[in-house]
Amino acid sequence: MVDLLLGLQWGDEGKGKIVDVLTKNYDIIARFQGGPNAGHTLIFDGNKHVLHTIPSGIFHDKAVNIVGNGVVIDPVIFKKEIDNLSDYNIDFNSKLLLSRKAHIILPTHRLLDAASETLKGKAKIGSTLKGIGPTYMDKTGRNGLRIGDLELENWKEKYNALTQKHLKLINFYEVDIQYDLNELEKEFFVAIEMLKSFVFIDSEEFFNNALNNGKTILAEVAQGSLLVVDFGTYPFVTSSNTTAAGACTGLGVAPNKIGDVYGIFKAYTTRVGSGPFPTELFDEDGKKMAKIGNEFGATTGRPRRCGWLDLVALKYAVQINGVTQLTMMKGDVLSGFDTIKACTSYIYKGKEISFLPYNIEKENVEVVYTEFKGWQKDITKTKTSEDLPKNMIDYIAYIEKFVGVSVKIVSVGPDRTQTIRL
Ligand code: GDP
Ligand code: IMO
Ligand code: MG
Repeated sequence: MVDLLLGLQWGDEGKGKIVDVLTKNYDIIARFQGGPNAGHTLIFDGNKHVLHTIPSGIFHDKAVNIVGNGVVIDPVIFKKEIDNLSDYNIDFNSKLLLSRKAHIILPTHRLLDAASETLKGKAKIGSTLKGIGPTYMDKTGRNGLRIGDLELENWKEKYNALTQKHLKLINFYEVDIQYDLNELEKEFFVAIEMLKSFVFIDSEEFFNNALNNGKTILAEVAQGSLLVVDFGTYPFVTSSNTTAAGACTGLGVAPNKIGDVYGIFKAYTTRVGSGPFPTELFDEDGKKMAKIGNEFGATTGRPRRCGWLDLVALKYAVQINGVTQLTMMKGDVLSGFDTIKACTSYIYKGKEISFLPYNIEKENVEVVYTEFKGWQKDITKTKTSEDLPKNMIDYIAYIEKFVGVSVKIVSVGPDRTQTIRL
């Protein structure tokens, strides 16, 4: 079966850490969507690694890591990630395989992202500017370049044709984007040569053979369910399918091959970039979460917006994904708060509702909170569930009841070892 690990909020829930923790149980770890807009942090043995394209199982001896067809790859960023792993003597030929059907982010995709955001002005999405939107536009617009194209004689012609088209589009935007295409192409082509040394596979065939041979697969999402293009806070979303269904199209496995769906969420909420965020805090509590939680984007370094847990949104995400078990991250960040709050309904058009309505901007929804007693204990060294503070257990029990799914893992710090099974 293919188990899924999904982020249930606006990304940065701690997916990288949990994939790393779970990898020992799997033969294959696979990314199925997104690209280098993701930043997945792993901390172990005193070292910190941030992965953008490479699946978070890469530090284990056994697991094979696959970049699936649904992912978009920037060769330049991919090369940097590979270079950063040079100390680990990883045999990439056997441990990291790339789908021929994954799309390539060109230098001009990044420029188009910048042009589009500049034109939007105040209404900008707050994109990571990694070229994600333009690359998926070319994919669905049937113009894209894929990893498998690098094996064709005429791939350079395809590259040139698409780049020329992009340059015309950038002019059309009539915004002032400074760039030196020669410089960008220089590093791009160096990275392409390195990329060509990797093993390309027909990944859908690979996954289905693996399943027929009884192999276990964990699919690792990028971003979170509230950033999904269909159901997220559109247009303030990313351009891929970050939900359970996305794993089927992004890997080529059928829905009846999906096993467990692990949903992970922070004990509070963060968001980076623009867009509505009903439980966002602008007070001392928000500042405290940001400081203790060290809430800065792993990809862009931007400060993350912070707020209380939104259970209405969490329940929505659990529902669209068919989550079978939950993992709660960063409970340690809430230690020391006298009172903890969670949104348990919205007032929308004068009525109290407990589902996510079409508009969740500040002017459309008012948040109704339920309050919980905080816990004062430092839990970062806690090893067993029995030693977790009672008030935290009560908070977790409330969440489980509200969303109807059990919390099986609690993370109490960024390190691999700071993980408790309930
Ligand atoms: P991802 O994108 O979902 O993999 O998450 P990020 O790596 O972008 O952000 C999660 C951040 O929280 C990283 O800095 C992690 O090291 C850190 N982190 C993960 N789990 C915990 C936890 O339980 N407690 C604390 N304090 N930090 C955590
Ligand atoms: P991980 O995998 C948090 C946000 C951006 C922006 C919006 C669109 O680390 O959880 P894009 O670059 O896709 O055009 O940006 O989505 N965003 C993320 N926020 N974590 C991420 O990834 C994100 N990837 C994109 O900030 O608001
Ligand atoms: Mg992240």
